[in-house]
Amino acid sequence: MRTQPHHAGRRRAGLLAAVLAAGAALAVGQTVGQPEPASAATTLKALADAKGRDIGFALDPNRLTEAPYRQIADAEFNLVVAENAMKWDATEPNRGQFTFAAGDRVADYAATTGKKLYGHTLVWHSQLPGWASGLSGPELLSAMHQHIAGVAGHYRGTVAAWDVVNEAFADGGTGARRDSVFQQRIGDSWIEEAFQAARTADPAAKLCINDYSTDGINAKSTAIYNLVRDLRTRGVPIDCVGFQAHLIVGQVPGDLQANLQRFADLGVDVRITELDIRMPTPATAANLAAQAADYKRVVNACLAVTRCAGVTTWGITDRYSWIPAVFPGQGAALIWDDAYAPKPAYQAVSEALGGGVNPTPTPTSPSPTPTPTLPPPGCTVTYVPNSWNNGFTAEVRVRNDGPATVNGWTVRFALTSGQTVTGGWNATVTQSGTQVTARNASWNGAVAPGGTVSFGFQGTHGGTNTSPTLFTLNGATCRNG
Ligand code: XIL
Repeated sequence: MRTQPHHAGRRRAGLLAAVLAAGAALAVGQTVGQPEPASAATTLKALADAKGRDIGFALDPNRLTEAPYRQIADAEFNLVVAENAMKWDATEPNRGQFTFAAGDRVADYAATTGKKLYGHTLVWHSQLPGWASGLSGPELLSAMHQHIAGVAGHYRGTVAAWDVVNEAFADGGTGARRDSVFQQRIGDSWIEEAFQAARTADPAAKLCINDYSTDGINAKSTAIYNLVRDLRTRGVPIDCVGFQAHLIVGQVPGDLQANLQRFADLGVDVRITELDIRMPTPATAANLAAQAADYKRVVNACLAVTRCAGVTTWGITDRYSWIPAVFPGQGAALIWDDAYAPKPAYQAVSEALGGGVNPTPTPTSPSPTPTPTLPPPGCTVTYVPNSWNNGFTAEVRVRNDGPATVNGWTVRFALTSGQTVTGGWNATVTQSGTQVTARNASWNGAVAPGGTVSFGFQGTHGGTNTSPTLFTLNGATCRNG
């Protein structure tokens, strides 16, 4: 039904204005000439509050200045989790040096808006700084204790629950532990060590283990089930299990509810922690309808289990979802589209939470400020640095997410002081102050819709090789891949 609003630059601005001025459901109906989709009588937050459940979202605090993002975040959710800001690399980039600036923005947002704060994540093999992954067993165990004490201690009393351990189990049907640095260097005990340390750091927070592909009953979820049972039998403090639920349209496990229930029966809370349901892009009307039904299934499964604390979606809008960068060719996984219009899945979640059909649109009030102009999400940039001592190379991959071929490109981004470009490949790369400009070579200026161009550069750095985070393509801000 949606004829690619992602790619309709000018139309998207019009659509966004309409969303803010007239209400999302009306805007969708007008734009695509479809029957007006029903929208919720109230917000997801009000519905979830009434049921005593959490409805959460993963927050990137940098997006809060974007009016529709902020408006939806404020209105629709009663729980917030940091998408990245409380991870190990963000909070302890160097050993013993804690940086809570970004995490605190998430915590402050939760406090000022009266939302629950969910902690993600204390120990994970991914987004783990290089210094930690290089440590020997005893050092790594001690660093893990210090990290948990530092981070969970900092947020002590403000976090409702922590993902203490994330993704500790391997994929496939073995039910084995993931062969992570923690597993390799510390051995099986690293998980209970982490839980004990988290309890000491914040006695009030519920302590959870979280993983993906564990939504149905399978070897991986059964391995976690057996671990949780064993930990509880031995008095190791574990209170909850998170099910990420990064799902694919049409593939919600039929035994999701039964799986949640078997864990609940162990005496722990359960929660859907990172829900998104992806599909091939561009989205089709059929897939959006199937996605709505899938979202409803997931919410219903949680509601049917008394100890299911709630459902968190991994973001608000498809515009900033992590999916397209990690699963190329897939996306449209969240319940608001690229232009912040609620999708059929929004209505489905609302209905599952007890919302009526066809009442007041949401957001409920027009934006008091002039309509913000958002950069079109016309590009995705993936930045891959490779650094040593004081040198580095970086590959920059730029995908054209727009509807038209790009003919001639300029990519801009900022380095930090101390970083100097010394050469480039596949582009003319120049630097002025911290600003870097890369222009296409004669032979790679044309990038078809959906196509990717890759260039790179060599440089030197002063010891800390920070990666740039804001890239523009021909002046338009790209999303980060
Ligand atoms: C993802 C974030 O969404 C991305 O922005 C980041 O680049 C990588 O991590 N499982 C998790 C989350 O537990 O922390 C991940 O979040 C998604 C998969």
